[in-house]
Amino acid sequence: MVTDHVEDSQPQQPLQPLPLPVPGALVIQPLFPVALAQVQLRPDPLDLAVQLQTLHGLRGAASSNPDPGCAWTGDLNGVWQLHRHAAFAPLIAEVLVHAHAYLQQLGFDHSQVALHIQRCWPVLSEPGQVVGRHHHPNAHLSAVYYLSGDGGGRCGCLRFWPQRQVNELVPGMAVGHGGPLNPTRWSQPWVDVAPRAGLLVLFPSCLDHAVLPNEADDELRASISLDLVLTASADVPLPPEYLAPHPVHWQQA
Ligand SMILES: [Fe+2]
Repeated sequence: MVTDHVEDSQPQQPLQPLPLPVPGALVIQPLFPVALAQVQLRPDPLDLAVQLQTLHGLRGAASSNPDPGCAWTGDLNGVWQLHRHAAFAPLIAEVLVHAHAYLQQLGFDHSQVALHIQRCWPVLSEPGQVVGRHHHPNAHLSAVYYLSGDGGGRCGCLRFWPQRQVNELVPGMAVGHGGPLNPTRWSQPWVDVAPRAGLLVLFPSCLDHAVLPNEADDELRASISLDLVLTASADVPLPPEYLAPHPVHWQQA
């Protein structure tokens, strides 16, 4: 499998005030963007076939979660350590390379933080199935890797919602029927990501998301989710404020 590296972060710049607009021009600038990362990996077809076959075996006779309209997810069915499985370990190692690059671009100092896999589980969505809106309060950084999809979105997009839609000005305007707020880049109520085999998505775990219905009549939607947690590095003598010390320093009470 070939790795597509995320570009290195830009050199650190001191925080500057916003540039002033030219006289007479109304300038709207985006503030506080959410960091959603995508990288297209190039899965080996044989590896992909083995992984899909493995997931079918792990799901067994089940087909939902258990509501028939909900996709089967490994985290609720005892399959939450996929990163320890031989068929997935190389892929997960590649995912972690990109997760570290994501942290670097956000500005984290690699020497001070450690990234941990907390859970790694498959999501298998049959035609008509969904995953309801949720977020991952147990984690800091989440990742999804797709084993299926052609980029068209029919098998069910991954939908993200903003934590707070401040640009709608009047609460509810962004999703209310009948306007009067038409969706623009400043007021769109959600963002969809169309699955494609080999696509990796990284996003803050606190971000609400859902999987839309799989509308591909004869196609299984298959993905792998990861929950990652940040702590201080094990060898940092004084863990930074608000960052948990490394688990090697924890003591079970
Ligand atoms: Fe999720």
